[in-house]
Amino acid sequence: MARSLTDQVVVITGGARGIGAATAAALVRAGARVVVADLDADLAKQTAATLTRESPLPAGEFDIRATAYGLDVTDRAAFTALLDQVEAEIGPIDVLVNNAGIMPIALIEDEPDRTTAAQLAVNLHAVIHGSREAVRRMKRRGSGHVVNVASAAGRIPVPAGATYCATKFGVIGFSEALRLELRDTGVDVSCVMPAIVRTELAAGLKDSKGVKPVTAEQVAEAIVGALRSPRFDVYVPKSVGPAVRVGALLPRRVGEWLSRGLGGERLFLDALDSADRRDYEARAADSAPGAEETRG
Ligand SMILES: NC(=O)c1ccc[n+]([C@@H]2O[C@H](COP(=O)([O-])OP(=O)(O)OC[C@H]3O[C@@H](n4cnc5c(N)ncnc54)[C@H](O)[C@@H]3O)[C@@H](O)[C@H]2O)c1
Repeated sequence: MARSLTDQVVVITGGARGIGAATAAALVRAGARVVVADLDADLAKQTAATLTRESPLPAGEFDIRATAYGLDVTDRAAFTALLDQVEAEIGPIDVLVNNAGIMPIALIEDEPDRTTAAQLAVNLHAVIHGSREAVRRMKRRGSGHVVNVASAAGRIPVPAGATYCATKFGVIGFSEALRLELRDTGVDVSCVMPAIVRTELAAGLKDSKGVKPVTAEQVAEAIVGALRSPRFDVYVPKSVGPAVRVGALLPRRVGEWLSRGLGGERLFLDALDSADRRDYEARAADSAPGAEETRG
């Protein structure tokens, strides 16, 4: 039987825009109480306010469906403190969606070390930290669900995204091991692997023959589906799953030839220095202030 999401407490990192905001909206519609946690605290407030306005609850019940918190996931102490605060003010966390992520693209020789460090901090270390803190809370209660947003680029390598791929391959490997650690504990793990999603992060990426871009809402629906009927592999679109499985069986050169033919290899290369990415790249460059402080 599908699980009910009514009144489930869900924390979504990077929930102010893009996939995170669409997931927050889908979960509010499903009856969950959603915490939108984002580096951009003002936008998080706007997103949460819109969701609450659009989905008022009957009088006498919780009058707030979505709450906003400013959070830099690379500030690990602040991340832990936020989870504590949510549990104290809203209730035990049922679901953590580790969604915050950045995708600066560059050839590796042109990538500054601070950009490398920022991707590792936001896309990988924060996912590990958030998962650990969620598991500490959920395992003793014998229930909960950790959803880690990786990427198809965590299965299929993309030139000009070597560090990004490293972080997403890392998230998948981490989540696979975590799933085994949590067997029979009542805590589920899902790994979301979208291809191209039309959000600011994917600005300037052209359509490729191989994969049809999807919307943030389609990813959100897939996440809601995985929460209702828990499964680990959440590919969006679903066709990425079989493509990955077949690709893994092919000799390396044949797989690379196919990826080249389908346009996958040019995806990031053709967007390097694209004017359409300028605003996004500037935002991504400022996305790991906590990591900066730790190193400084
Ligand atoms: N858009 C795509 O094509 C695509 C494809 C596959 C996977 N993904 C993954 O999906 C996730 C969401 O991406 P999106 O496309 O919605 O991107 P987005 O840029 O639209 O939204 C990401 C959100 O994360 C927030 N964020 C960034 N750094 C943060 C930090 N340090 N602390 C807290 N919040 C932070 C941003 O403020 C932003 O609101 C990412 O992990 C991304 O790698 C995206």
